[in-house]
Amino acid sequence: MQISITKNPNPGKMPPSDKLGFGSIFSDHMFLMDYTDAEKWHNARIVPYGPIAINPAASVLHYANEVFEGMKAYRWADGSVHFFRPMENAKRINISAERIGLPQIPNDIFVEAVREVVKVDKDWVPSGEGTSLYIRPFLYAIDPELALHGIHQATFVIILSPSASYFAEGIKPVKIMLETEDVRAVRGGTGYTKCGGNYAASNRAGDRAMEKGYSQVLWLDGVHRKYIEEVGAMNVMFKIDGTVVTPSLENGSILGGITRKSCLEVLKHWGIPAEERLLSVDELIGAAESGKLEEAFGTGTAAVISPIGELAYKDKKYTVNDFKIGPVAQKLYDELTGIQWGKRPDPFGWTECV
Ligand code: PLP
Ligand code: COI
Repeated sequence: MQISITKNPNPGKMPPSDKLGFGSIFSDHMFLMDYTDAEKWHNARIVPYGPIAINPAASVLHYANEVFEGMKAYRWADGSVHFFRPMENAKRINISAERIGLPQIPNDIFVEAVREVVKVDKDWVPSGEGTSLYIRPFLYAIDPELALHGIHQATFVIILSPSASYFAEGIKPVKIMLETEDVRAVRGGTGYTKCGGNYAASNRAGDRAMEKGYSQVLWLDGVHRKYIEEVGAMNVMFKIDGTVVTPSLENGSILGGITRKSCLEVLKHWGIPAEERLLSVDELIGAAESGKLEEAFGTGTAAVISPIGELAYKDKKYTVNDFKIGPVAQKLYDELTGIQWGKRPDPFGWTECV
């Protein structure tokens, strides 16, 4: 792919690691590429980070035809920079694009675009403990027409944000509230995709949970309001009576997380029993009450492994593992972050040098 590069004449300065937070500071450059039915993907360019002009009639502003990805670049101790399973993000953005009716991006073009923009802004990959360059590729429809119709014009953008941990708690346990009113997704809907609309529909419940002192909500399935699905920005795993249980993806209402998939592969490699299956809220609460709920944690690119120390359901609160990170969550955290930051061997071949 031919990519033109316009250097930022006013480069910024990366704040110290302890001032990074998550997703609020951006690097000097961004990648853009245009799509039309006639020209297909064209005009790939890396330009200074800044506002993007958009027609007020652009489809995305009215009908939310947008999908995105979340991935990271990690700085290793020797200064080199590495990705974690970038092809998985390429495949997933195309699964999302297909569902929303957006044009797909060839997987190798997606990975090349991410690689080239990260190369230009390599100095923005932070090196502090637990920090990385969060990469946000996104794709949206710009057809300037209010009639409902297929998408013929789109824009693909990649922005980069040096970040620390997603939750202010870091790897300390978070409090999560089971949501009993709003639902996020249903079978046949868009739950399995990373489309912006899923997050818009989730906001109200998330805000209410935060007002009550919880970090995020744990969604129940949209039909029976009975089965555990996922948390706002992460998949969930529970260790119940010695077995790790995570909701299966079969219903099509849960995002197939790359961290989730990696954890399942690592658990299998270690011989720790793990099951993907339906998990009802009654079974989960029953396990919490009988002492069989040994651990609960979320998995995600931004969230990494986030232990859950408290679950709230219908005015009752359940403390998990004395509000401490459990041994399986800790072992997974150490292994995944060890591979990602090059501190441990990578037997699965998941990292790629930028
Ligand atoms: N579920 C939701 C709704 C998410 O937004 C995310 C974050 O990307 C995840 C799960 C975890 O996915 P991954 O591990 O690929 O980051
Ligand atoms: C990620 O983990 O990459 C995500 O996209 C979560 C996001 C909602 C912050």
